[in-house]
Amino acid sequence: MSKPAEEKSYSAPGRVCLYGEHQDYLKLVVIPAAVDLRTTITLQKNQSNKIKIKSHELEKTHEFTVMRDLPLAFNDFDYFRAIIKVLFEEKKINEIPGFDISISSDIPIGSGLSSSAALLVAWLTALDDQLNLNLTKLEIADIAFKAENQVLGVNCGIMDQYSSSLGGIFSLDCNGPPYNTKSFTSNFDSIIIGDSCIRRSANKPLTILKNQINKGFEKIKQESDFKLATLTFDELENFKSILTEDEFRRLFGVITIRNITLQARNELSKKSQDIELLGELLTKQQDMLRDYLEVSIPMLDKLVKESINVGALGGKLTGAGLGGCMIALAPGKEEKIAKAINAAGGKATICKIDYDGAK
Ligand code: GLA
Repeated sequence: MSKPAEEKSYSAPGRVCLYGEHQDYLKLVVIPAAVDLRTTITLQKNQSNKIKIKSHELEKTHEFTVMRDLPLAFNDFDYFRAIIKVLFEEKKINEIPGFDISISSDIPIGSGLSSSAALLVAWLTALDDQLNLNLTKLEIADIAFKAENQVLGVNCGIMDQYSSSLGGIFSLDCNGPPYNTKSFTSNFDSIIIGDSCIRRSANKPLTILKNQINKGFEKIKQESDFKLATLTFDELENFKSILTEDEFRRLFGVITIRNITLQARNELSKKSQDIELLGELLTKQQDMLRDYLEVSIPMLDKLVKESINVGALGGKLTGAGLGGCMIALAPGKEEKIAKAINAAGGKATICKIDYDGAK
């Protein structure tokens, strides 16, 4: 009898988006921070050609036979199939053995903390090691993005997969590939996350906004060769008459968040950072997300407001919006802010920045 295969664990972190919400799919700059909430995959090769998965959080199991041209099952486990499909398509593998897999996660699903990217990245990190694929962390991010965007049809950008794979705080210029990244060492090491406990599929706000923004911007491009990366407020104002009110508001929000993100990138690049300014820039973004992109909800607004009332330097929703979580920046006052978030009906978690990424 051959020896049973060794059991090994692999994990990847969730993330918050500090600056640049709804900018990645527009090829603009984003600044995510990976946090110490992780999805862990424990697996061992089995003697079959079947992948057998058990999810602790979902209390569900799923099993499928591995093959080329693997169909999707349209269930919660399609993330596993999507990665395998991209690996075959990109000729990174010719075959794949069976595995017994168990998943556990402390990233709440559908909460804006990138639970899906963490699962994709953890699974791909596991396959990279088990099959000796020698993928770099950037390649892992790219493949995970293809799986989520092209195979699973989510209208996301590249921020979540890059953040989960690389870890840390960095700016990512989404105008690629290749995508430019610049890592920062921030003057703060914790973030308070406030969960509204309202779940939604991120694809809804992503699809609505992406369509509105692109429709508006297409109209502008027909008139002249503008780029979202450089469009000014005066130029946008000149096109007001050809845009619907919603299109104008969305584009105004997008270019304001673009400018806030560039200002934050500049501040984070400094050795000694103005932490109050970094806080203010979070709140300015939240105002745009609430009033111009219209993806906030009253509970998230309330959690941001209550956090600031008791001393946070700033806060915003994180992720696509319409539910999920907010974040607050309050170095040294984390406990106080967490209490206020809980008292306001949210669920607070104090997170450390994760500098490991997938492992
Ligand atoms: C989701 C997507 C990301 C990004 C954010 C909004 O989390 O997966 O790519 O678009 O929404 O900033």
